[in-house]
Amino acid sequence: MTIEENVLLAPYTTLKIGGPARYFAKVATEDELVEAVRFARGLGLPLFVLGGGSNLVVADRGFDGLVVQIAITGKVFAGSASGSTMRILFQVPAGIDWDTFVAIACEAGYAGVECLAGIPGTVGGSPVQNIGAYGQEVSQTIHTVRVFDLEAHDFVDLSAKECEFGYRRSIFNTSQRGRFVVTRVVFEFDLDTLVRLNYEDLKRHFGDKPNPRPLEVYRAVREIRAGKGMLIDPETAGPDERSAGSFFKNPVVSTRVVTDILETLAPDEGTMPQWPTDDGKVKLAAAWLIEHSGFKKGYAQGRVGISSRHTLALINRTGDATCDELLRLRDLIVLTVEQRFGVTLAMEPVMLG
Ligand code: EPU
Repeated sequence: MTIEENVLLAPYTTLKIGGPARYFAKVATEDELVEAVRFARGLGLPLFVLGGGSNLVVADRGFDGLVVQIAITGKVFAGSASGSTMRILFQVPAGIDWDTFVAIACEAGYAGVECLAGIPGTVGGSPVQNIGAYGQEVSQTIHTVRVFDLEAHDFVDLSAKECEFGYRRSIFNTSQRGRFVVTRVVFEFDLDTLVRLNYEDLKRHFGDKPNPRPLEVYRAVREIRAGKGMLIDPETAGPDERSAGSFFKNPVVSTRVVTDILETLAPDEGTMPQWPTDDGKVKLAAAWLIEHSGFKKGYAQGRVGISSRHTLALINRTGDATCDELLRLRDLIVLTVEQRFGVTLAMEPVMLG
């Protein structure tokens, strides 16, 4: 393993924004990870773990520490779960591309991750923010997450329960942030599970067709995502794809807030999308709130802007935008939505530096 100095991070992110890391190491095995951790400890430097860089905003001044890129790949190992002929476990190294794994599971005929097709990033990143789309969350199929515990300096297998998954959250991005490095994820599938479509965009796509096969859903989801500029191919990314996906979380508010908002809407503003949550609150569509605060798709502010295909994706229009410019646009959007609707949007991607 080589440790490089002063490595620009922008190329490692889908936004193509961000300054240099003081040190940068690409680790291909668990042993190399331990070696990299020792190096950072020896110098008393902070460590940051990079996966696919698809949910990451790096500051212009960069990061004064060691960035470790998890490139642990290898075979995806499938075997039946102990004591059951109906359940199968897939053991997947953290550095495998997420969509590649989804395709493997779907091609083998297993339902459970098909709606998460086309999400950029790596398998190791998937539990961190509990990636989700079209009514599915990765936590529903996670069996265990193998991590390196930076406090105990040892490898541990955490059960799905121990990961405390919620909407775009887990212990990895909340209570234990920075403590664990994911090196492998084990997924569990049930042979009996059929595809269930919960989401309007997808139901429309399949019309009356009952129980489409996982691979059919995989293809449909990729098509829908592509139409929204949310299928990011780093090689061919155009301006609309130079993004970190959804830049804001969908806010969860009380029914009182919803009533207040509905009272302020003009008749020509249409119906505000809203979904009840299990705990009696309401999830709103951040994209809708942003649009109805005056920001249209394709909105431009210098070198940054809003995707012309999805209001929730902030983009690096020209490819050479700075993080400061992006954060200024973020602040303007947050402030404007707050003034218009009294709802404070929270940023979804991770901020480094
Ligand atoms: N909408 C607009 N303008 C737009 C797009 C959407 O007003 O440009 C409104 C529409 O009313 C639509 C609603 O927002 O009904 C929801 O839009 P969409 O179905 O595109 O999903 P989203 O809520 O914006 C979430 C996830 C996405 C995930 C999609 C599909 C979050 C923050 N985002 O987006 O995840 O792919 O649902 O399930 O939860 C990501 O996290 O990076 C991400 C892309």
